Amino acid sequence: MTVIFESDCNRLRVFSALTGHEGDGAAQEVEAGLATSPRTLPSKYFYDATGSKLFEEICELPEYYQTRTEHAMLEQFGPEIMAGFAAGDLIELGSGANLKIRALLDAVDKNQRRLIRYVPVDISETALIEAAEHLLELYPNLTIMGLVTDFHHPLDRLDHSRKKLFLFMGSTIGNLHPDQATEFLSSVTALMDEEDRFLLGLDTIKDRAVLESAYNDAAGVTAAFNKNILSVVNSAMGADFDQDAFEHLAFFNRQEARVEMHLAARHDLEITVGDLGLRFTMNEGETIRTEICRKFDRISAEVMVRSAGLHIAEWYTDAEETFALALLEKRSETG
Ligand code: AVI
Repeated sequence: MTVIFESDCNRLRVFSALTGHEGDGAAQEVEAGLATSPRTLPSKYFYDATGSKLFEEICELPEYYQTRTEHAMLEQFGPEIMAGFAAGDLIELGSGANLKIRALLDAVDKNQRRLIRYVPVDISETALIEAAEHLLELYPNLTIMGLVTDFHHPLDRLDHSRKKLFLFMGSTIGNLHPDQATEFLSSVTALMDEEDRFLLGLDTIKDRAVLESAYNDAAGVTAAFNKNILSVVNSAMGADFDQDAFEHLAFFNRQEARVEMHLAARHDLEITVGDLGLRFTMNEGETIRTEICRKFDRISAEVMVRSAGLHIAEWYTDAEETFALALLEKRSETG
């Protein structure tokens, strides 16, 4: 890891582990996904500048309860969660705009906060630095060590003499297939010492109507977000997807306990992906699955985290069990 940024006040230092080869497998990944049934596209292609902005808008939508519920829960349970970490590292994986961390920092006494180090980990260097600088202004005695990485590199900058609270918020774990989730969670387990904890945000299984309206908002923001993936693939792979030829589809698949987002062909189509030398047809109504959003209860969450050597030490929910925060610890050898 190399230092790529240091603030004048010496309270912020950013390291990067990126090598420039992060996108190397992208072509094969897209090609393989388009060859499956149903066809799929990797959800990470949602997030170019337009997609990231649309996602921010989604978080504010009246139908999308997740962000505000999680935030309220962090405010409510923050003091309890932070009780053991007033002098430790808060390591936020996929830190983005850092809004959530503020609820946890606010839960700590101002004088004790100087002992905390915030460690945002994100693939976007500019977003990380911008958000970290803003936090420095808000919290005059906070120290920040930013890590720019795509998670495939070990976080070898972590200080194992400090107590660590890992954070992976916003139900992003739900966007991973079970084997991917196990792999990701295991990579965090490998960084944890016995005293460390891991706070995981999870969306819960609930009424179909509530879930489906969260992904079919009246203003059409989620539809625009979903279709934007086609523009991103067009630019990245020389494809000729026409957004208007597809319809946004989002439904709750109860058997799999997940909301699925698809794009359905409005009529028979022929698609070319220039950079892959690929040409294929789609029949009217045929879909490309663009995202899975898995929903959990305490039992399915426990099954998932156990597969990664963790267990749920505390399970926090709001009164309606709309969202959950699972505080995880490493499972003992005998547990
Ligand atoms: C980022 N992730 C947790 C969101 C979700 O709800 O699964 C992405 C999203 N897709 C459509 N709306 C929001």
